[in-house]
Amino acid sequence: MRGKGRGGWEAGAKLGLPVVLFFCSLFFLVGFFGSVLLSLDISGGGETRRRFAESVDGDGEEILGMDYGETGEDLVSSIPFQVLSMRPRAVYFPKFATREQCQGIIKMTKPNLRPSTLALRKGETVENTKGIRTSSGTFISASEDKTGILANVERKIARATMIPRAHGEAFNVLRYEIGQSYYSHYDAFNPAEYGPQKNQRIVSFLLYLSDVKEGGETMFPFENGLNMDGLYDYKKCIGLKVKPRQGDGLLFYSAFPNGTIDATSLHGSCPVIKGEKWVATKWLRDQEIDKE
Ligand SMILES: *[C@@H]1O[C@H](CO)[C@@H](O)[C@H](O)[C@H]1NC(C)=O
Repeated sequence: MRGKGRGGWEAGAKLGLPVVLFFCSLFFLVGFFGSVLLSLDISGGGETRRRFAESVDGDGEEILGMDYGETGEDLVSSIPFQVLSMRPRAVYFPKFATREQCQGIIKMTKPNLRPSTLALRKGETVENTKGIRTSSGTFISASEDKTGILANVERKIARATMIPRAHGEAFNVLRYEIGQSYYSHYDAFNPAEYGPQKNQRIVSFLLYLSDVKEGGETMFPFENGLNMDGLYDYKKCIGLKVKPRQGDGLLFYSAFPNGTIDATSLHGSCPVIKGEKWVATKWLRDQEIDKE
């Protein structure tokens, strides 16, 4: 026993230098690569700013973020969406805004509502277009909102669409009461009817600020080319219908990527049958909005 032990010890002593060197290099390597990994992970303001996102995907796994630039974001975030149609390109964003944000927007705009107006075409007058759009509404820009709600919503729209905030008109907040509607129309201005456009509307983002008990759907009568035989009565509420749900967003494109107006983007607001409909609309243009 003793001899064996001593022998073992002697063997250990003989191996001493290589073993010590081995452990030294091991500790060095662990320390070196460990510090590199740590600097990738949690460095604040180092040249590498990759981070592990706090996000978790559906399987409960951590999502690894990526190196990002000066104008990027450090976290992977998630904005759920559902494609409702490819003709027109329409996408739904459930729970885009909170109930509190919706109520805040209603509260700040309610005192300023006026009957909504139309952009008139040749031959149209306020008189002969009566009934086309019967809602009340008001325009409000994010800078006019001291609570900061509209700025936050606007930022989120810019992140979801990747179209900068500067391309957006002021919010048009609308209220539809029982019987009120908006007949089918285009948001983009057809140059054949309105003349050449320097700055065209290409995207509409609707944020539903309230549920509607019955009616009040946003409808797309020409979805996937249906009802386009020229016989469609633009007062009729048919086709793809989107039922407003408080806090949810609906985005659709009025133009193709080449800038031509998409005929299937015709849409309207069905009459409210029960309850009240509140919606905040943000129109995004192909150019920045001039600041006067
Ligand atoms: C623009 O794109 C649409 C859809 O892809 C296409 O139908 C149309 O012909 C194009 N128009 C022009 C002028 O290129």
